[in-house]
Amino acid sequence: MNKDEIIEILENNFKDDWLFDKANQIRLENVGNCVHIRGLIEFSNYCKCNCKYCGLQAKNKEIERYRLEPNEIINCAKEAIQAGYKTIVLQSGEDIFYDTDKMCEIIREIKKNDVALTLSIGEKTYEEYKAYKIAGADRYLLRIETTDEKLYENLHPNTNHKNRFQCLDNLKTLGYETGTGCMVGLPNQTTDSLADDILFFKELNADMIGIGPFISHPQTPLKSFKNSDLTLALKVMSLCRIVLPNINIPATTAMETLHPNGKIMALNSGANVIMTNITPYLQREKYQIYPNKNKNHIDILLGRSETEKLICKIGREVGQTFGNRINL
Ligand code: 5AD
Repeated sequence: MNKDEIIEILENNFKDDWLFDKANQIRLENVGNCVHIRGLIEFSNYCKCNCKYCGLQAKNKEIERYRLEPNEIINCAKEAIQAGYKTIVLQSGEDIFYDTDKMCEIIREIKKNDVALTLSIGEKTYEEYKAYKIAGADRYLLRIETTDEKLYENLHPNTNHKNRFQCLDNLKTLGYETGTGCMVGLPNQTTDSLADDILFFKELNADMIGIGPFISHPQTPLKSFKNSDLTLALKVMSLCRIVLPNINIPATTAMETLHPNGKIMALNSGANVIMTNITPYLQREKYQIYPNKNKNHIDILLGRSETEKLICKIGREVGQTFGNRINL
């Protein structure tokens, strides 16, 4: 697909059903009928950044901060592995408390088990990414958020768009399965720039892509903007499946937050991964990147069995492997 075709699809809605069906079919042909369940531990909501859309931003003084001790993270991961999880995802704000030594220790301990490990802890140096890789990390998620440089630099004070690209390049070079993605429906975002995002994922040859609708957070400078349209986010996700047929694409939590059926809609429009929150529930609700996130308080075992039930209900199978990218 070229840029003009992508823009045409994004701007018109008469082809939406065709698009969702096409993405679903391409998903089935290329990555099969399994849905892979990842166990997500949001281990700290401290963050040194001030991304204007994000509730975890350093300037937000209303949020109650928490961080899990390394042994709590490790125990949580072990419990999830026992419950059947084949991938653990460690996510946090950009929290300098976890220096390279601490992170590597956590990675090594978790990787003593038969499990794939994904990190999602932001922009780090090449040396840090390398250290995590040597310690055993397999995958890394770092959304580009938007490829529109002006929009990016406006939304991310004191950051540098080039460095974000450099980080993704470094991750690829180091042999990580590299995930990226964008937010859809950001204030001042154009369909032209969304098309560029999709083409960028293709050019990077991203192994995983997470697409999330923007959800307005009342404790951020973007509080007066409205939430994204879910359909547009689903369309961007479906287009990602079409341009990169054999990658992993999650039904994102933000989609589910916008619509009770959001997860199923995503799974039927190209997604093949679900990320279930396994953060200890005393802390879980405090990870409010956007409002109304992490409302459920169920434990690791129940969370897994409910996710499995949902997968079976829509005629899919639960992935029993690590769920790496196919033909990597
Ligand atoms: N709405 C939707 N997604 C958000 N993220 C951060 N803040 C918001 C928001 N207000 C997304 C970013 C980040 C991911 C962890 O969460 O894309 O990469």
